[in-house]
Amino acid sequence: MLIAQISDTHIMSPDANEPKSLARMRALAQFVAHINGLDEKPDLVIHTGDVTHGGKPEFYDIVKAVMSRLSIPVFFAAGNRDDRANLVAGLKDLGGAGTADGFVIYSVDGFAVRLIAMDTQHREHNIGTTCSVRLAALEAMLKEQPNQPTALFMHHPPFEVTTSSHPFQFDDKVLADAFLDVVAHHKQVVHLFCGHAHRPFSVDLETCVATVTPSLPADNRIGDYEGVLKSEPLYHLHRWNPDTVRFETSLHAATLPV
Ligand SMILES: [Fe+2]
Repeated sequence: MLIAQISDTHIMSPDANEPKSLARMRALAQFVAHINGLDEKPDLVIHTGDVTHGGKPEFYDIVKAVMSRLSIPVFFAAGNRDDRANLVAGLKDLGGAGTADGFVIYSVDGFAVRLIAMDTQHREHNIGTTCSVRLAALEAMLKEQPNQPTALFMHHPPFEVTTSSHPFQFDDKVLADAFLDVVAHHKQVVHLFCGHAHRPFSVDLETCVATVTPSLPADNRIGDYEGVLKSEPLYHLHRWNPDTVRFETSLHAATLPV
């Protein structure tokens, strides 16, 4: 199983005269063309949130128009800059985004590793959070298939991104630990795919691996990048290795096919 992950596209105004907006649309379109041109296509794309910068329906219309050209399905998690209802209504046809108890929590089945989108959006802040309703929904889904390797994808890392000047982006250590406790009690969870930090990061947690994918567009990316990685749209590839029961993660520039 091969997963392509993008994050933090922050698509906003459809105004073609707005330079940032145009650059982000171009980055997304370039990613789509790049994936469609690969000899070995991933099975699917996951987007770990901040799909848009503001959550307006017309922003998701742009994302849909661009990403509907992808030849593989794409699944979305909600970021702090997204609007849950507009995201699901606008993008569910591209893969199958759904909700549980009003949160963007749903499973993606039919692949070697089961995926579950987790909702970490905070009502008032840009940092992440969780709550008893969300954790119960996650736990119920994990109990459905306890022996199936499973990865969660979400916007906010519920752990410290130690290379960031704001390493902890969850509102409360107790809530983050409650989240990680649910993960640790379900041994089939092999990986957490995150975004939000706008930089690449990876850490071995107590019972699984966690990675953060940098922003797709270059303009809002943080960190030092070599060569072509500096200016091109970036994404992660995660290749499942059933022998080691781990994903092998690599960072790629979405260069245009020649
Ligand atoms: Fe973001």
